[in-house]
Amino acid sequence: MAMDVIHTVAELRARLKSEAAIGFVPTMGNLHAGHIDLTRIARDRVATHGCVVVSIFVNRLQFGPQEDFASYPRTFADDADKCRAAGVDVIFAPTEAEMYPESQNYFIEPPEIQHILDGAARPGHFRGVATVVLKLFNMVQPTVAVFGKKDYQQCRVLDNMVRQLNLPITMVLADTVRAEDGLALSSRNSYLHAAERAEAPQLFAALSKIKKEIFSGRRDFSAMETVAVAALTARGWLPDYITVRRSEDLLVPVASDCALVILAAARLGKTRLIDNLELT
Ligand code: PAJ
Repeated sequence: MAMDVIHTVAELRARLKSEAAIGFVPTMGNLHAGHIDLTRIARDRVATHGCVVVSIFVNRLQFGPQEDFASYPRTFADDADKCRAAGVDVIFAPTEAEMYPESQNYFIEPPEIQHILDGAARPGHFRGVATVVLKLFNMVQPTVAVFGKKDYQQCRVLDNMVRQLNLPITMVLADTVRAEDGLALSSRNSYLHAAERAEAPQLFAALSKIKKEIFSGRRDFSAMETVAVAALTARGWLPDYITVRRSEDLLVPVASDCALVILAAARLGKTRLIDNLELT
C-alpha cells in the first residue's frame, strides 16, 4: 500500500481510526539509518497487519534561544523517500500552527532529572520534549512507541512519564546505531567539517575506554571521568560532561549499584555531540 503523508490531526485520526496496532517513531526529520532502524523495530512489534507511523516535526519548544532551531536540517523529500523504502505506512508532518494553534501554556514538567546533565546544558529542553511527545501520543494514540538510547536521558524522561501517567503505550528503547568507526549516527553530524568528522569517533572511544576499565575492576569513577575529560580537552574538544551514572535515574552511583551507564556530551568546533554506553 502506498505511504500516506498527513499534515493535520483531523486527517491523521481519520486515517488511523480502524488500525488495531500502531507502532510510532517520533522524529525531527533529517532521517538517517538510526531512525530507519527504529521504524524496522516498530514494524516487528506491530507485524504486517499493523500500521507504522513516523512523525516529522522540528519542535521549537525543546530548543533554547541560542540553539540551532532555525538551522536544524529540514530534508522532507529525502526523509519521505527513506520512509517509503523502509515500508512506513504514514508520515505525520504537522505544521507549527497545527501543533501549536495557540500558545502552549500547559506543560509536562519532568522531575529533577530534567535539570541534570543535558538538562543543565539545555534549560527547558526535556520539558519541551516531554510536552510535544505527550501531544504526539495523544494525536497518534500508538500501541507501541520506539525511541533510541542514543538520547539516553530523553529515554528515561519519557519512559518514566509513560509509566507514571499510565499511558497505554508500550515503550521500546532501541540500541544506538553507529558508523563503522563508532560515531553514533546523528542529524547533527552533518555540521561536522571533514577534520572534525575524523576526530568525532574519539567520543565513543573515550566511553569505551572507561567501560573497559570498569569491567577490569576499577570503581574510582570520578578519577576516570577527570582523565577522560582532560584527554578530550587536549585533543581540542570542549567537554560538557563525561560521567558514570546509574541507568535508572542518572544519579551518581553508590557502591551497590550495578546497572550503570557512561554518558558524555562534548563540543567539537561548533557541534555539540552526545553519546553513552551502558554497562550491564
Ligand atoms: P530526533 O533527534 O530526530 O530523534 C528521533 C529518534 O531517533 C529518537 O528516539 C532518537 O533517540 C533516535 N535516534 C537518533 N539517533 C539514533 C541512532 N544513532 N541510533 C538509534 N536511534 C537514534 O529525539 C528527537 O528527535 C526529539 O527529541 C523527539 C523525541 C522527536 C521530540 O521532538
